[in-house]
Amino acid sequence: MKAVVMRRTGGPEVLAVEELPEPLAAAGQSLVDVRLAGVNYDDLERRSGQYQPLALPAVLGVDAVGVRRSDGCRVAVLLREGGGYAQVVAAEDRYTVELPDHLSDDQAVGLLEQGSTAYGALILAGRLRSGEAVGVSAAAGGVGHLAIQLALAYGAHPVIGLASSVGKRARLRDLGAHHVLDPAADDLGEQLRDASGGGVGLFVDSVGGGLARAALDGLAPFGRLVTVGWRAAADGGSDQYGPVRVSTDDLIERSIGCAGFWMRHVVENRTLLAGMAAELFDLAKRGQLVAWIDRTVALAGVGDAHAAMAARTTSGKILIDVNREH
Ligand SMILES: NC(=O)c1ccc[n+]([C@@H]2O[C@H](COP(=O)([O-])OP(=O)(O)OC[C@H]3O[C@@H](n4cnc5c(N)ncnc54)[C@H](OP(=O)(O)O)[C@@H]3O)[C@@H](O)[C@H]2O)c1
Repeated sequence: MKAVVMRRTGGPEVLAVEELPEPLAAAGQSLVDVRLAGVNYDDLERRSGQYQPLALPAVLGVDAVGVRRSDGCRVAVLLREGGGYAQVVAAEDRYTVELPDHLSDDQAVGLLEQGSTAYGALILAGRLRSGEAVGVSAAAGGVGHLAIQLALAYGAHPVIGLASSVGKRARLRDLGAHHVLDPAADDLGEQLRDASGGGVGLFVDSVGGGLARAALDGLAPFGRLVTVGWRAAADGGSDQYGPVRVSTDDLIERSIGCAGFWMRHVVENRTLLAGMAAELFDLAKRGQLVAWIDRTVALAGVGDAHAAMAARTTSGKILIDVNREH
């Protein structure tokens, strides 16, 4: 089978298409012939060695859709240890979701990992209440644009999306966001308070650093910040990036809260994963949740796709058609 292999950490140039033996399915796993695999921001950080370093050589990729060999069933799979950028994966049965007929392959890859992250942040960790103001960073991204749609679907108002380009902000307005903001604004906290009519009730952040501090600044009393990740500082030291430390004093003085969400706690809970997938797929069926597909590339195009994501020029989900030649 063909796969995108990395033999060392580094830039997109370390990704190369190679011929590999097919994986073997261990107990509790099934072989899946992949049709589409997904690219996630975490893949870039694993590739560069900034996040959860992998044993090398490695195949990146944590989500895919394909056909299970044992019964011909169309499934979406989550791959906690990677392996998705390949024509065949050995998928854990407990991390596998059978797909309803109404859901296309590309929507399934777009929704499962990133939609579950958006849902987990807003609903499980954030305990979103109808009518409260919600803010989302990287709102045109794979997780972000689904968080905007979920916030709207669950009655948040107003919904505020942050995105770095005019084009992304226009798309967010078309999606239904009531306000769009530039994350680079010096007075972002104040802008968030203005846009929300006094303070944000729930902010979902995936960027960290200065943006997370501004989001905390923009919270209303009883507002919550839910973090799902942060950009690693390229120089290892910039306070524009990285995690933010919050003291309990800060929380008390402003009656605000902070929470985190990590997909691992969903995939390790079969009931939660199945329930969340069913909810996301149902919202998609009703037209309330649509994954934007930024582009679909061949295996040989994965390095360029990583470069585009790092350059902040992508919106929504990048897919890999693992069987396409070019
Ligand atoms: N906790 C979990 O379980 C979990 C699961 C999945 C994903 N995540 C996290 O969710 C986040 C989004 O993941 P995704 O795959 O959907 O990626 P994405 O949002 O499609 O892409 C990353 C976005 O981050 C923004 N960004 C801000 N500063 C950046 C910088 N210095 N370099 C590059 N991008 C920057 C960019 O949007 P703008 O240019 O518009 O700012 C960019 O489009 C990531 O932080 C990821 O780690 C967490």
